[in-house]
Formats: sequence, C-alpha cells, structure tokens
Amino acid sequence: MSVCSSSSSSSSSSSTGKAWIVHRILAGTAIAVAIGARAYLGRARKFRTRVVGIIPARYASSRFEGKPLVHILGKPMIQRTWERSKLATTLDHLVVATDDEKIAACCRGFGADVIMTSESCQNGTERCNEALEKLEKKYDIVVNIQGDEPLIEPEIIDGIVKALQAAPDAVFSTAVTSLKPEDAFDPNRVKCVVDNRGYAIYFSRGLIPFNKSAKVNPQFPYMLHLGIQSYDSKFLQIYPKLQPTPLQLEEDLEQLKVLENGYKMKVIKVEHEAHGVDTPEDVEKIESLMRERNLS
Ligand SMILES: *[C@@H]1O[C@H](CO)[C@@H](O)[C@H](O)[C@H]1NC(C)=O
Ligand SMILES: *[C@@H]1O[C@H](CO)[C@@H](O)[C@H](O)[C@H]1NC(C)=O
Repeated sequence: MSVCSSSSSSSSSSSTGKAWIVHRILAGTAIAVAIGARAYLGRARKFRTRVVGIIPARYASSRFEGKPLVHILGKPMIQRTWERSKLATTLDHLVVATDDEKIAACCRGFGADVIMTSESCQNGTERCNEALEKLEKKYDIVVNIQGDEPLIEPEIIDGIVKALQAAPDAVFSTAVTSLKPEDAFDPNRVKCVVDNRGYAIYFSRGLIPFNKSAKVNPQFPYMLHLGIQSYDSKFLQIYPKLQPTPLQLEEDLEQLKVLENGYKMKVIKVEHEAHGVDTPEDVEKIESLMRERNLS
C-alpha cells in the first residue's frame, strides 16, 4: 500500500539507537548563564520550552534523486531518521516537511506527521520556516533534522535543544565532533572554531585554525561541524530573509550569515561519527557499516 514498503527484518528501532555509539555531550550543559539571561529568566521562569523537530525532505536533488526514500537495509532512509529522532526526549512534536506526494505518503505510512511545503523552498531552512508557519501550535525552538543522517543520535538532538534553552543570548545551536586528520583538507568537511564559552567564532571549508607549518597539527583538537541545528523560532522567521553575506557566499556556508549579522550561535561537542548520505555510493558504505555493527 505505502510507496515505500518497509521490510526490515527487525525493526527494534528503540534498542538500536543507544547501544553502539557511546557518546557524551561534552560541553552542552555547563554554560554560565549570562546576565541578560537572568533578567529574562526572572520574568519567564522557563525559557524556550516548546520544541518541534522538523525533518525537511525533498524529492528532487541534483546529486541523488529521491534520496529520502532510498532503502537502507530494507527501510527508507527518512524512516530511519524519523525513528531515531522520535527517541529524543526534548521534542514535543516531530514532523516531516516535504513538497513531494511520494515522500508524504511514505511517511504517513510509517506513522509520521507530514506538513506539505511549497516546491519553491530553496533549502532546508526555508522549508522548516514554512512548516513552522503551517503548524497549528506555537513553538519556541525548531530543530532542523537533516533527513540524510539516518544514524543521528537522539542525544545530539536533546543536546542542542538544551544548549539553546540554556543560552538565551544565542538564537541558534548546533553540534561539532572531532575532525579526523584525513578530512582536514576536504572542503566538504566543514570545520568550526568556538570561543571559551562554546559560542561559534567561525566555520570554514578550509582547515581552521591553520597551523603555521601549513600541516595538520596532530595535537590540535580540530572540530567538524555536524549538519544538525536548532533555532529560536523567532529567529527562524527572519533567517531566510537575511541578505546573503560576503563570507557566506565565499565559503558557501549558510550559517555564516548568522555570525556575520552579529547573532550568537551555541555549539556543543559530541562524539559522533558522521555518516551522511549524499550519493548512491554512500548507501553501500552505511549499509556495510551497519552490518558490521549489527544494526538493523
Ligand atoms: C603547529 O603544529 C606543531 C605540531 O605539528 C606544534 O608543535 C606547534 O605548536 C603548532 N603551532 C605553531 C605556531 O607552530
Ligand atoms: C537558503 O535560502 C535562503 C533564502 O532564500 C538564503 O538566504 C540562504 O542563503 C539559502 N541557503 C543556501 C545554503 O542556499
């Protein structure tokens, strides 16, 4: 009946999540509350409590047509992402936002709430914003969960949500993990540097910081940016409308627009191996990895 028959042999999604990658939120919660924050909290007590997770998914893609529906060990990728995200404890609501009827039918088939968004959405951020506007309830935080990270850990979702709740001066939160030395000069691996309170200073496709020797410093804890991000919902409404900025355009990194406009972004460090699916070849890679680790 549904477009994507999920024929996974064992679909015990709740037990697969935690067992295999042990990771800790290293710096997510230990944040000094800023003075402005205290004033705000004095008024409001609880801060940014209502949270929605949105998984933007489009069918058309230059590199990988129909990507969200590709099967990974017998289950559509979007379903894997959704099942994992469902395990996050900070989300009040989780929806898939798509412009495509096939994706929508598939997602309804496995029980997801779907919001239809227009084809004109340029990217995931815009799609999240449109979905937010169409949701009946009001939310304070929107988590943008990339549909192409089927192994996303729910703890990372919870980590960035809590970070944004604890940092009222930030409008955006995201996660980084250790960069592997072999990825140092790969422009598709985005690097990040943060200040000593965990606020983002800069993101780059180049290696930052750049050692004087022009080589990778094996002692330096370089950080790799993970695609997941969450926004203050008021900020999300203006984010897509902010004009492109010079650094954003030069690096082709949307998040730089946030920093260039002077907004603050909170970053948490997690242990996570990124296994994003960008090309059909990545599917085989992730499947063999999952077999190796006995994931289903
Ligand atoms: C550069 O990396 C080397 C290790 O390769 C390290 O000893 C040195 O302190 C780093 N910084 C500078 C400025 O050389
Ligand atoms: C996403 O769309 C918004 C609005 O058109 C734009 O400002 C932003 O730069 C886009 N991001 C990317 C990565 O294209």
